[in-house]
Amino acid sequence: MYIYTCVDMSKLILVAAPMYYKGVYHFFYQHNPHAATFGEKMVWAHSVSYDLINWIHLNHAIEPSEPFDLNSCWSGSATIIPGKEQPVILYSGIDDKKHQVQNMAMPKNLSDPFLREWVKHPQNPVMTPPVGVEVDNFRDPSTAWLGKDGKWRVVIGAQNGDEGKVVLYQSEDFANWTVELNPFFASDNTGVCECPDFFPVSINSTNGVDTSVQNQSVKQVLKISYYRRNQDYYILGKYGNSDGNFIPDVKFTGTSLDLRFDYGKFYASKSFFDHAKSRRILWAWVDECDTRDDGIEKGWAGLQCIPRQVWLDESGNRLMQWPIEEVEKLRDKQISIKGEKLVGGSILEVSGITASQADVEVLFELPELENAEFLDESEVDPHLLCSEEYVSRSGIIGPFGLLALASEDQTEHTAIFFRIYKTSNRYICFMCSDQSRSSLRENLDKSSYGTIFDIDPNQKTISLRSLIDRSIIESFGEKGKICITSRVYPSLAIDKDAHLFAFNNGRQSVVISELNAWSMKHAEFDQDESIYQQ
Ligand SMILES: *[C@@H]1O[C@H](CO)[C@@H](O)[C@H](O)[C@H]1NC(C)=O
Ligand SMILES: *[C@@H]1O[C@H](CO)[C@@H](O)[C@H](O)[C@H]1NC(C)=O
Ligand SMILES: *[C@@H]1O[C@H](CO)[C@@H](O)[C@H](O)[C@H]1NC(C)=O
Ligand SMILES: *[C@@H]1O[C@H](CO)[C@@H](O)[C@H](O)[C@H]1NC(C)=O
Repeated sequence: MYIYTCVDMSKLILVAAPMYYKGVYHFFYQHNPHAATFGEKMVWAHSVSYDLINWIHLNHAIEPSEPFDLNSCWSGSATIIPGKEQPVILYSGIDDKKHQVQNMAMPKNLSDPFLREWVKHPQNPVMTPPVGVEVDNFRDPSTAWLGKDGKWRVVIGAQNGDEGKVVLYQSEDFANWTVELNPFFASDNTGVCECPDFFPVSINSTNGVDTSVQNQSVKQVLKISYYRRNQDYYILGKYGNSDGNFIPDVKFTGTSLDLRFDYGKFYASKSFFDHAKSRRILWAWVDECDTRDDGIEKGWAGLQCIPRQVWLDESGNRLMQWPIEEVEKLRDKQISIKGEKLVGGSILEVSGITASQADVEVLFELPELENAEFLDESEVDPHLLCSEEYVSRSGIIGPFGLLALASEDQTEHTAIFFRIYKTSNRYICFMCSDQSRSSLRENLDKSSYGTIFDIDPNQKTISLRSLIDRSIIESFGEKGKICITSRVYPSLAIDKDAHLFAFNNGRQSVVISELNAWSMKHAEFDQDESIYQQ
């Protein structure tokens, strides 16, 4: 296995229930044992790790077997019941009538540190589609949380006609669940809201908090996976008042103004609280950019992003994300560049590392922002511009950034870049990832991704980190404020023929204040668990 981001290269579909339990990280995921494509009879595969980087594959945790999941076992979540310290899984079953129902499973032997075997609950299904929810659009139970009244709550993705929604259930005993009549969230735009996630973030610390915390120290995050767009959106708000409603800070609009975890390929994310390091960790499924047939031929499809720590920005208006610190254990040979000026139209090779598998951190020193070109927001929607912002179009301040997975002559490359504009009342910065030249191969999705954010007129520097791994590039702008994941399949820029460059195509010079890049080692994916026994 060569791709360090990936938990299981074979036929991995999407993350189900990540969890930390008694010293072990558990990763359950949707898996089709029969083909590298989504199919019938999906199972929950199971891998465990001590560091979220090196993984041990175990036998499947849950497979179709009973009337309530005979057709498939779809996504869900894990909850750790406090007191009993017992993990419980809630998952969606496709039953013998092809209805979507929610089921429960518990570990067979709590003394087994890997929790290898899971037993389905005798009361399954514990939830069936309620009134106002389509029987084939009722899925993906979240991790449950305890309300101040001592009752459990869980949210489930649903749809009715044009309305996508998140429905709320409650229970006193975690087995007998009753639906709330009013949906927790509803929108006319989304289609079914898949994989809802609801979790608190601390308002004054980067530390994570457990899912049931509701007090003055936290804000809540509701994440929905927007089925019609294959994109994950989140809403910040308040929760835990006496009426038990979630009150968003800003209304969800179904437009480019809504907040996203990642502006690239990144879907069906899930988070969990890691007690060991008091942090909340987010990860997501990164789909392919090649075709279904390519997947079948390769024998695998889809992978997981590097787990990210997630916390609330100081402004309280958005989340920040950063690769978990453990990924730095894979850093190998390092090179550094300091104080290198990139005049307009210049390109600089970052050589001496394995450019096909690298971690790059760069801090750019900006010119005076008042020289930036003017953008009339009434004429163009800046959010739509990344797809037109091809890197070779020169500007004034930017585009500048990195060309990753580039061929020697740069025929192939993925450009991750910034470009700064002045509008009538503020300065804005684009961060884009342009895949249009990522490969000479055809039939690949080469869309460009990106977004804009406000930039302080006195800001002197801007930072970018990219984790590059052969067919995936995860980029973190402004220390994790903006994240973009790209999926690319170069035909030339492979292994030793992959190169990394820094570039500036703006007329104003920018300076690489500091750049550090590392070759990355391979993670271990060991079938033999004995070497990890503690
Ligand atoms: C439960 O797991 C422990 C630790 O692996 C093992 O020693 C024990 O035999 C298991 N019990 C059963 C009933 O399988
Ligand atoms: C399930 O909970 C509901 C509402 O709390 C209650 O009316 C019902 O009696 C409970 N059923 C069982 C079997 O406990
Ligand atoms: C909120 O809960 C967290 C976790 O239990 C605790 O650390 C924090 O002090 C609480 N804050 C307030 C204001 O009660
Ligand atoms: C965080 O904010 C809460 C509520 O304002 C406060 O009670 C708590 O002491 C603060 N914690 C820290 C570490 O500043």
